[in-house]
Amino acid sequence: MSAQDYIRGIGVKTFALSILISFTVCAACLAQTAKTNLQAYTRDAVSLNGEWKTIVDPYENGYYNYRYKPHDTRHPPSRDAYFTDSKMQKSTDRIEYDFDKADSLQVPGDWNTQNEKLYYYEGTVWYRKVFDIPKSKTSDRLYLYFGAVNYRADIYLNAKKIGVHEGGFTPFHFDVTKNLKREGNSLVVKVDNKRRADYVPTLNTDWWNYGGITRDVKIVSLPHTFVRDYSFKLASLEQKQVTAEVLLDGASVGESVRVAIPELKLEASAKVDEKGIARFDWQLPGLSLWTPENPKRYKVEISAAGDVATDTIGFRTITTQGRSLLLNGKPIFLRGMSVHEEYAAEGGGRVRGVEDARKLLGWAKSLNCNFLRLAHYPHNEHMVREAEKMGILLWSEIPVYWTISWDNEATYQNAEDQLSAMIGRDKNRAAVIIWSLANETPISESRNRFLTRLATKARALDDTRLLSAAMERHYRDDNAFVAVVEDALADIVDIVSFNQYIGWYDGLPEKANRITWDIPYEKPIFVSEFGGGAKFGYHGDKNTLWTEEYQQEIYINTLKMLDNIDGFVGTSPWILVDFRSPRRPLKEIQDDFNRKGLLSEKGERKKAFFIVREYYRKKKELAESSK
Ligand code: GCU
Repeated sequence: MSAQDYIRGIGVKTFALSILISFTVCAACLAQTAKTNLQAYTRDAVSLNGEWKTIVDPYENGYYNYRYKPHDTRHPPSRDAYFTDSKMQKSTDRIEYDFDKADSLQVPGDWNTQNEKLYYYEGTVWYRKVFDIPKSKTSDRLYLYFGAVNYRADIYLNAKKIGVHEGGFTPFHFDVTKNLKREGNSLVVKVDNKRRADYVPTLNTDWWNYGGITRDVKIVSLPHTFVRDYSFKLASLEQKQVTAEVLLDGASVGESVRVAIPELKLEASAKVDEKGIARFDWQLPGLSLWTPENPKRYKVEISAAGDVATDTIGFRTITTQGRSLLLNGKPIFLRGMSVHEEYAAEGGGRVRGVEDARKLLGWAKSLNCNFLRLAHYPHNEHMVREAEKMGILLWSEIPVYWTISWDNEATYQNAEDQLSAMIGRDKNRAAVIIWSLANETPISESRNRFLTRLATKARALDDTRLLSAAMERHYRDDNAFVAVVEDALADIVDIVSFNQYIGWYDGLPEKANRITWDIPYEKPIFVSEFGGGAKFGYHGDKNTLWTEEYQQEIYINTLKMLDNIDGFVGTSPWILVDFRSPRRPLKEIQDDFNRKGLLSEKGERKKAFFIVREYYRKKKELAESSK
């Protein structure tokens, strides 16, 4: 049934009205992010993953001359500039670097765990890749796509500056059509992971500052007119109404776009407007909804002007009603865990690809989880797509963490760019149900303004998901056994979330048996962190810190306490797996690892693992019995 057939099927007036309502909102989504997104995951591409030559440059000698002036302000730039990838031609040439003879690093991957000399390194490393473009791939448009680089990337191709990107966890791309040669391209990337107070995150975090080209790199070849971006939504559960908008790049007004969902025998076409956006609105009575138990996804084909983009998309709704959280209109309890994007089991650091992601997700499944809080930054796209296949719902977050420079406009723009890129990349992923704006940020007027702006932007980009943030809490002045969540953020989010550490940073494990919570908001309540540290294999009584028994006691008492909270819809204890942090140096216990994991970094199960697994098994049983 095409969009045109659909119009004939119902009163045109009703159709027009629904179009106006749904598309007005939808139009805000793609149009606002037109040039920042490129849906590249499923595109055929030339991968640049693998071995790259690298030069460690703590003094940035490859970027600045001895007067500390950047080499690339001169034209042509001095051959001292590493991005020129210069070679000695004559015996009298003085070139004091040579990528061909340099050390190598694997991409994707952090440098800290690939070379022990770089374990603590914070600074610049130059990466160089030489590559050809296969004849079959030379086409109208060629884009250089990075899954992420931590933290700042200066990109040079054949000695020409292509661009700069800041932000360690979101994708970016550049049109390199005019800069590429068929053979012998020299791609040089200056990666700098130095922390800065005005960055997002700021100087202070509780995770390892893994530097490098940490995600996939590829060259995507596209025709002159191509499908740049798309957004599919289940706009109405009752009517199984699906809306879609498709953004063409290089199209003229009136260009036709065709969308097909073969399994639903759907094929429709529509014409793009002056913004290059084509809109669709269907009722699909045969649609099966995406759920954790049945993560149903449909193959979607989008074609225009000879280009075909494909994806697999699931359809579901996530809403709240008072203190209830509803997935597809039915109450759901989030059986979650928090998790960092780190797979240290084989000594590694950042998740490098699908295999690492599947292993972490498999550990979550073994706990009976249906939810993961991807802390504290957007994770690898492999993690999000594999979670969607496995039926694991997700909380996705930008690293607005702790003491951000709230009054700095550039800092706000950085946060907003990361938010837009996170939503832009994952807006079609049914697994993602919550966008999180912040974690444990100290309350102030400037922080409230900053986060209120971000919330407005998030809703303009995506009005189908819920907003949250880990808020602040305190004890009542007149009663130290009543814990209170009182934070202006509660007015701008859909789910009230907070971290609490009774039994670890706050008293002993038994304290949780004496605490009640006062949370004066008619919204679902989610406990985004709790827990305590334990060294796997270290045993003692439940009052001996760092033993598995101590950590187990925290979990037993906390879960009982949380079940008494009215509107408690789930939790993501801190944390699935022990992870590296420079804040955790305690020899023989931490050894640079935050030990709050239910699993050691090698995947060894601590006693608290079994407490959570049983608690979630019961929650799962309860949910199944109430169907
Ligand atoms: C905080 C924070 C985490 C941190 C944890 C801890 O709540 O959100 O990022 O790792 O506490 O102290 O272990």
